Amino acid sequence: MLQIENLSLGFQTEEGLLRAVDDVSLTVEEGQIVSLVGESGCGKSITAQSIARLIPSLRYLGGRILLEGQNTLTLSRRELRKIRGKGVSYIFQDPSLALNPTLTIGTQILEALALHQPQRACRAECVAALSDVGIPSAELRVDEYPHQLSGGMKQRAVIAMALASRPRLLVADEPTTALDVTIQAQILQLLSELRTAHKMSILLITHNLGIVSQMADKVAVMYAGQLVESGPVRQVLKTPAHPYTRALLASVPRLDSQCLRLSSIEGQVPPLHAMPEGCRFHPRCTERHGGCALGAPRLRAHPTLPGHQVRCFPSGL
Ligand SMILES: Nc1ncnc2c1ncn2[C@@H]1O[C@H](COP(=O)(O)OP(=O)(O)OP(=O)(O)O)[C@@H](O)[C@H]1O
Ligand SMILES: [Mg+2]
Repeated sequence: MLQIENLSLGFQTEEGLLRAVDDVSLTVEEGQIVSLVGESGCGKSITAQSIARLIPSLRYLGGRILLEGQNTLTLSRRELRKIRGKGVSYIFQDPSLALNPTLTIGTQILEALALHQPQRACRAECVAALSDVGIPSAELRVDEYPHQLSGGMKQRAVIAMALASRPRLLVADEPTTALDVTIQAQILQLLSELRTAHKMSILLITHNLGIVSQMADKVAVMYAGQLVESGPVRQVLKTPAHPYTRALLASVPRLDSQCLRLSSIEGQVPPLHAMPEGCRFHPRCTERHGGCALGAPRLRAHPTLPGHQVRCFPSGL
């Protein structure tokens, strides 16, 4: 369904061309849920948005993005418009950016439905699309404007819009962060059902490793613009091979833990203009050794676990 191959992305800034994503490769099969995780600023959203070339200022520095066999990086604007909606659809991290404040929710869903089935799109379907994502009194809400909805309801309306075109690939960027846990569970259930019923593929970006473990088939961990580990979810969560993945997992609060202090990762993700030499994670890594500052490790197949890749020097494994 989706094959990202050796993708590198950058931004032209006053400090010159800054590389924000470096040599990322990722595959999402039909009907598969692949999760992209990593701290804020690691490059998850720009990687995802580059699939449909949504960021005008982004520079494509190398690689290919094959969506159902078509390289989206070489498609014309017209061809790209054709694949948006039914080919790939987005739930954006910030719902207020996805909604037009001057149009009612119903009009906006109608537009999304019309992309998919111009003759049949009607009010009843808009109401059904809103009910599906758990919006109460959907028949009233459909005539309201975005500012009349709470944050969580706006997020659900955005999800309804993204799903209305029945996309073959859904890119869900933190789709449930603004929602309370019961609605979150409903939305995740809906996404699971759509994946099973329509073989919809999902690229799921989230900070919530609980959601990853519950929903995803595969997980890819990003750090400072690079993939540091990827593989089947159970395997990566049970036997994380990269110290960064281990540190992310150690920061997850657990109800059954006696520990009073949560562990956190010291320091911050380095800014784009000041990437450390050697392994990008080594200044924060509790398992670093002399070699980590000298050379940059490549992403390699795990020595024993199938389908599992890791970017760490063998002595750090
Ligand atoms: N329009 C832009 N111009 C310049 N730099 C940008 C732009 N958009 C993003 N960046 C930079 O690219 C890097 C990756 O950003 P991105 O939004 O992909 O992070 P993210 O992993 O999605 O983080 P978060 O979890 O906070 O959403 C960051 O360093 C960010 O500052
Ligand atoms: Mg993001």
